Amino acid sequence: MRKKIVAGNWKMNLDKISSKNLVLEILDKTDNNDINIIISPPFIYLEDSVKDCLRRDNVLIAAQNCSSYDNGAYTGEVSAKMLSTIGVDYVIIGHSERRQYFNESNEVLNDKLTQAISNNLKIIFCCGEDLEQRENNEYFDVIKDQLNSTIFLLSKENFRNIVIAYEPIWAIGTGKTASSDQAQEIHFYIRSLIKDKYGDKISNETSILYGGSCKPSNSLEIFSQHDIDGGLIGGASLNSTDFVSIIKSL
Ligand code: 13P
Repeated sequence: MRKKIVAGNWKMNLDKISSKNLVLEILDKTDNNDINIIISPPFIYLEDSVKDCLRRDNVLIAAQNCSSYDNGAYTGEVSAKMLSTIGVDYVIIGHSERRQYFNESNEVLNDKLTQAISNNLKIIFCCGEDLEQRENNEYFDVIKDQLNSTIFLLSKENFRNIVIAYEPIWAIGTGKTASSDQAQEIHFYIRSLIKDKYGDKISNETSILYGGSCKPSNSLEIFSQHDIDGGLIGGASLNSTDFVSIIKSL
């Protein structure tokens, strides 16, 4: 059985009080069941949120980033080890906003993967094409390349720490969602690539999330697709009513 996951990526939003209130509201409105809820606040709120969330087995915490370095003179960086020692479960790596605005190359992403894995963090690894690549029908190749040059370099054992998030860039924060058929087509493709690389068992066990303008009005349809195991939610994770409604639709 694959894990069902709804993860909320808060990006660079909310303040200390609203962060805490949001976590408490989410806890209050959801149960301890088979759905894993992952909350990914900015670094500075991780510890407070962790403390509150540890009360429930199905609520986990993700950092939005980690350093590609182990430790040392890297001003402003936060290491995977630091995250691990405060009880963080997951780290998001490969998000298109980090690739685009912070020039994260495959080499940097691979160093981050190494850091995360050596510090026992699980990984939500993002991939996805931009609008031009979609319109030129290049998206299968783009996604294959993104995976071949990063997570598909991992050993079978290490690959078990990966959750994949398919996030078409043209759907992130734009209000345009991939249709459930478009998303399923890519999720099925990603699963078939995992099967070719790591075999049937791992491909059936890897959770693949959809991200990009996922909201209460479309989540049920998206999540009803066979290869979609949940969502990585941006904007709609910033308010408990919408986020909980998305969790309930899964
Ligand atoms: P939106 O849900 O705001 O489109 O963001 C998706 C995303 O980037 C999650 O990581």
